[in-house]
Amino acid sequence: MGMRRYLHPLTQQPPEGNETMKTYKIAVIPGDGTGPEVTQEAIKVLKVASDKFGFKLDLHEYDFGGERFLRTGEVLPDSAIDEMRQYDSMLLGAIGHPDVKPGILEKGILLRLRFELEQYINLRPIKLYRPQDCPLKDKTPEHIDFIVVRENNEGLYLGLGGNAFKGKPNEVATQELVNTRQGVERCLRYAFDLTRKRNKTKTLTLCAKTNVLTFAHDLWWRAFNEVGDQDYTDVKREYAHVDATCMWMVKNPEWFDVIVTCNMFGDIITDLGAMIQGGMGIAAGGNINPNGVSMFEPIGGSAPKYTGMGVINPLAAIFSGQMMLDVLGETAAAQAIESAAQKVLVNDIKSLNAGKMGYTTSQVGDLVAAALAG
Ligand code: IPM
Ligand code: MN
Repeated sequence: MGMRRYLHPLTQQPPEGNETMKTYKIAVIPGDGTGPEVTQEAIKVLKVASDKFGFKLDLHEYDFGGERFLRTGEVLPDSAIDEMRQYDSMLLGAIGHPDVKPGILEKGILLRLRFELEQYINLRPIKLYRPQDCPLKDKTPEHIDFIVVRENNEGLYLGLGGNAFKGKPNEVATQELVNTRQGVERCLRYAFDLTRKRNKTKTLTLCAKTNVLTFAHDLWWRAFNEVGDQDYTDVKREYAHVDATCMWMVKNPEWFDVIVTCNMFGDIITDLGAMIQGGMGIAAGGNINPNGVSMFEPIGGSAPKYTGMGVINPLAAIFSGQMMLDVLGETAAAQAIESAAQKVLVNDIKSLNAGKMGYTTSQVGDLVAAALAG
């Protein structure tokens, strides 16, 4: 973490009673579509938090995304990975452009950063703040407050595989489900630690498909129980097949505290999770390397049709900023952002959906910033 000596810009003296101020060097990738407009609001709020809680943010913007690719033909410069390693954290808006073939930017930017920076955890809180945002009958904020730990570096996403006879009637295509004991175990350990730290019902649910994926997910199952027996006997273990997980998330979301799952299933169940917490306008995620640089993003995508209209909800981006501060260790500031956003949610915003908030994107940012400044 960058500890830099902070001097007053005019006097060149350290501020009284505060010899050094922590400075976090952050890479900002606003990205495509509505990414830039929501990222701007997250930064607005983060700046208020940094003033209030006495740390500094040193922001460096990068133009990775569809526009740059269409202009230059370059998806991600090779130097980018090593450059990112020098940051304390990364903030991402959205990647995805309607004029670029699906897969190019996603694989070339988002997945490459996740893989090469070993952000092996994708953390996605599912938390309902207001009853009216939940499409489930009779479910209120007390029923929906869990977190999904998605393995983020392997599984189907590794992209091993290939094809033969492409375009012919006898075409063969494979894409392999790859899991390593090491990759699975480090993800499980993170999930166990998190369950312990949350200290809620202290229940960790493994979501997998052991009845069909009898090799890959048997590895998850054995590792889950071995690690649990060895080091986490205080954490209660549950198991649910992925199809049943979807069912319970709708019928009894209150059963969940922490869910740990593979990359592909995590992708799917967290979109379902986003819907029960009020939609993409509020769903945030963190791609976490517990020993390196992590990257935080609203999970909603670039929503190209809303670009530049000022109608998209910036709360997901603001919550991803909150997660970033939490992981950086600025827990009080993170908590204050959550409370401020919660206040604005409860008092001001009509709906979480784009165009229906009763405010523009930047007005929502202003409201949260003002509530935080208090
Ligand atoms: C997500 C997204 C990505 C994923 C896509 C854009 C590659 O859906 O972050 O959930 O599948 O991981
Ligand atoms: Mn997804």
